[in-house]
Amino acid sequence: MNQVLKEEVQGTATILDRTEKSYKKLYLESYGCQMNFSDSEIVASILDKHGYQTTRNFEESNLILLNTCSIREKAESTVRNRLKSFNALKKNNPSLIIGILGCMAERMKESLLEEEKLVDLVVGPDAYRDLPRLLVEVEDGHKSVNVLLSREETYADISPVRLDNNGVSAFISIMRGCDNMCSFCVVPFTRGRERSRNPLSIVAEAKELYKNGYREVTLLGQNVDSYRWNVNKKGEIINNENPTTDFAELLEMVAHVDPNLRIRFSTSHPKDMTDKVLHTMQKYKNICNYIHLPVQSGSSAVLKKMNRGYTREWYLGRIDAIKRIIPGCAISTDIITGFCGETDHEHKETISLMNKVKFDFAYMFFYSERPKTLAQRKFEDDIPLETKKARLQEVIDIQREHSLESNKRQIGNVVEVLVEGPSKKSNDFYCGRNSENTMIVFPKENVKKGDYIFVRIKDCTAATLKGEIVLS
Ligand code: SAH
Ligand code: SF4
Ligand code: F3S
Repeated sequence: MNQVLKEEVQGTATILDRTEKSYKKLYLESYGCQMNFSDSEIVASILDKHGYQTTRNFEESNLILLNTCSIREKAESTVRNRLKSFNALKKNNPSLIIGILGCMAERMKESLLEEEKLVDLVVGPDAYRDLPRLLVEVEDGHKSVNVLLSREETYADISPVRLDNNGVSAFISIMRGCDNMCSFCVVPFTRGRERSRNPLSIVAEAKELYKNGYREVTLLGQNVDSYRWNVNKKGEIINNENPTTDFAELLEMVAHVDPNLRIRFSTSHPKDMTDKVLHTMQKYKNICNYIHLPVQSGSSAVLKKMNRGYTREWYLGRIDAIKRIIPGCAISTDIITGFCGETDHEHKETISLMNKVKFDFAYMFFYSERPKTLAQRKFEDDIPLETKKARLQEVIDIQREHSLESNKRQIGNVVEVLVEGPSKKSNDFYCGRNSENTMIVFPKENVKKGDYIFVRIKDCTAATLKGEIVLS
């Protein structure tokens, strides 16, 4: 073999070696809210550039990362139990790295390393750019922690690797943190101060998603109504104190990306949701007729103790505004039962608010005391667990009736559906959502993911509508 050829062959062999060996396997599991799932896509992107490919099989992984949630005690105990299931794996493969990301990492910091011996790495939500460096530390035999919170980090320049995704709908984070200090809530401690992301980077991400076949984006923030950014009309960032892009304007900018790109958002805050946002929703057909507006309690006294910044009457006023400006808009909510000192009467006020509003959907929880929160420091967690649970069951039963009623009203209607793919239960059926965010199941015909079709609703359960395609 002549010299040149030999070198070429050797060169190729080296390159092959490098690609095969240097790609390590990352197993990433996410818990908690949509923002955490969205963060995992940023983590996957950061680590992809440092030689890690994601795998769905943790048994073949070199690195296991759990992106955790602290919102309720149960969320944390789920993660601790999950960690136990990696015990044997780590014993057989001591070089396996196990890391905790997200809110539990931020809340517990170094103490997680003491309490969970399996864990090598603890990284808070604002420190993901540091992951490659931290991993090198762990590879060198040290346990590693970075839980610094930031006032600026929005990961705006990082293009997320879309994980476990249907290829039709995707999340876009528009802000991070929360400044609200609801007394029950751990989020301000785990996510830090509120900051908004450059709207131009948000629009660019939406355009890129549309180009790649996505047809729905959900704009994410703990309180999207307090989104703000300073930027002039030419798109140049200016340095004054006045917000020049508010949430309504951001919605409008994203709505202009393409009329076939649906826009959703979460979460709205009753104290901050403006009529301007509602009018913008009404103006653009591609902004979905759906608002998630967590009420937490129907009692003004409880809301005050929760530090939510609104009363029952204010909340009902916001509901009236939605119904007036966007007739037919679906509304969902979050409810907490058994908050500190909640009386039977106050619980009944929540029930009466539910009966007044008739939410289309709700996420319901019993109160779980969280360390360091205002409620933990100031109030006694004095409602017995059985009472909290009984109240929760009552709320769940009522909501199921309301969801069923809401779905029954759809029977006979023809609704526009964005096709998401095969339904969970059967490959003969496809599923997708209407603008109001209800899941609709229909026999698979000649349609594909990402198509907009019309479905006549024939039947329903409390959770799902069932129908037949009338036009595609
Ligand atoms: N930012 C959103 C909610 C984020 S947390 C908002 O302000 O509405 C999601 C939901 O979890 C909350 O709306 C609340 O209903 C519930 N939650 C938060 N802390 C809780 C706690 N300590 N116990 C029980 N539920 C809680
Ligand atoms: Fe928590 Fe309140 Fe912030 Fe929502 S608005 S994340 S409930 S502090
Ligand atoms: Fe949980 Fe953190 Fe989200 S506490 S709900 S993962 S912001």
